[in-house]
Amino acid sequence: RRVALLGVPIEIGAGLRGTLMGPAALRTAGIGRVLDQLGFAVEDHGDMTRPALDGGNDPVPANANYYGEVKSWVGAISARAYELAKSGAVPLFMGGDHSLSMGSVNGVARYWQSRGKPLFVLWFDAHADYNTPATTLTANMHGMSAAFLCGEPGLDQLLGDEPRVSIPPSRLDLFGIRSIDPLEKELVRQRAIPVVDMRAIDEFGVGVLIRRVIDRVRAAGGVLHLSFDVDVLDPAVAPGVGTTVPGGATYREAHLVMELLHDSGLVRSVDIVELNPFLDERGRTARVAVELLGSLFGMQITDRVTPSNAVL
Ligand code: ARG
Ligand code: MN
Ligand code: MN
Ligand code: MN
Repeated sequence: RRVALLGVPIEIGAGLRGTLMGPAALRTAGIGRVLDQLGFAVEDHGDMTRPALDGGNDPVPANANYYGEVKSWVGAISARAYELAKSGAVPLFMGGDHSLSMGSVNGVARYWQSRGKPLFVLWFDAHADYNTPATTLTANMHGMSAAFLCGEPGLDQLLGDEPRVSIPPSRLDLFGIRSIDPLEKELVRQRAIPVVDMRAIDEFGVGVLIRRVIDRVRAAGGVLHLSFDVDVLDPAVAPGVGTTVPGGATYREAHLVMELLHDSGLVRSVDIVELNPFLDERGRTARVAVELLGSLFGMQITDRVTPSNAVL
């Protein structure tokens, strides 16, 4: 029962500056203390430092802002993620904008591939992040991470020397989405990516829908990476993000998702991304994020018996 915290203060993947303060805000809001109180051995690996700009000699793709910088981050993040997963701890990658997941998910996927376990990725986000340089309207690379992870072309040298692992689109779940660009939507449809949008959540409820995801992972004998973009929450709950979209997950819906994920015992690694303390209101969003991570790691209101398969 070890959790490895790693701060990843990257901000150039997003359109607005400020997510580099995310790891500090999560620590101030008590992430370490909460995990400690839940009985975890917490290793804080500190914040990664901005890697030296070594973009290599590959041609810089059009429509990918700060490609060279993102590239130097992503390769370094992937290498750290692989090592942390291999250490047997549950890595918690504290962003930073969502482009960091191109490294964190690739690294943990590489580890699970070596263990012969299928890795599923739960993309808990207002956005699909399934753009490529060919489909993006903004050129912001945080909108391309899920597509990159599924092997979509256009950023082929992004990992440098790090081996690239592609997640089959059937093992990605977009959950909570309510904002998608036209060509991005087309691509998500073509790849038949499982999507739970806000309409589905309103109609069936998060409990039923998240159990469906969990059941698929379990049936495949797989493990789960949670990529938690704070903008999945309603802006009234979580104002401290640069890409707010109205009509998001409520406080209670998000907690239930976290609680059911905890009980599943399948989550082996986590990203918490897009928290922008510069836009926050007196630390509210950072606090909510830490409370939700508490639920993910086993915090409960009453002492209901935790299912024995819950390892988190
Ligand atoms: N779809 C938009 C874009 O490509 C928004 C992406 C927002 N992504 C995020 N990780 N917040 O720029
Ligand atoms: Mn988002
Ligand atoms: Mn995102
Ligand atoms: Mn537990």
